[in-house]
Amino acid sequence: MNVSFYEKLWMWASGALIIAFVTTILVGLAGSALQPPSHVETIDPTKVWSDGRFQHRGATLTPDGATVVIIAMMFAYQPAEIHVAAGKPVTFRLTSADVTHGFSIVGTNGNTMVVPGYISQFTTVFHTPGEYLVVCNEYCGLSHHLMSAKLIVEGAQP
Ligand code: CUA
Repeated sequence: MNVSFYEKLWMWASGALIIAFVTTILVGLAGSALQPPSHVETIDPTKVWSDGRFQHRGATLTPDGATVVIIAMMFAYQPAEIHVAAGKPVTFRLTSADVTHGFSIVGTNGNTMVVPGYISQFTTVFHTPGEYLVVCNEYCGLSHHLMSAKLIVEGAQP
């Protein structure tokens, strides 16, 4: 079988691209210590308001950072305003009382889906004090576009 030079060139170039893509995934996983979401914690979606893990909603501050507990529902977050400190790790724990919502802290890397029946958890650090908008980025119904919250990152006390 006679394969033309240019045909071979394209085949090898395609192969090299695949190897390059797989390499970036492996480097991202191992080299940059990126971790795919691995936190799996379930909850009865009909009982989130009485579940002990969601009784104390809002931010609980500790010397090492904060834990923020939030329930998402059509079409709001409870609580709708959160205060945390800059420069310290903040762990968010969220669940939904009804349908799938999003939780995206605009301008930061804080972003998760909030799926009924599961507890979404992620930890991040806010380096820049200020007021951040939190929006729902999963279509959840007619007033999806109104679903938002406010995150206030307070600067270090002098
Ligand atoms: Cu909640 Cu869109």
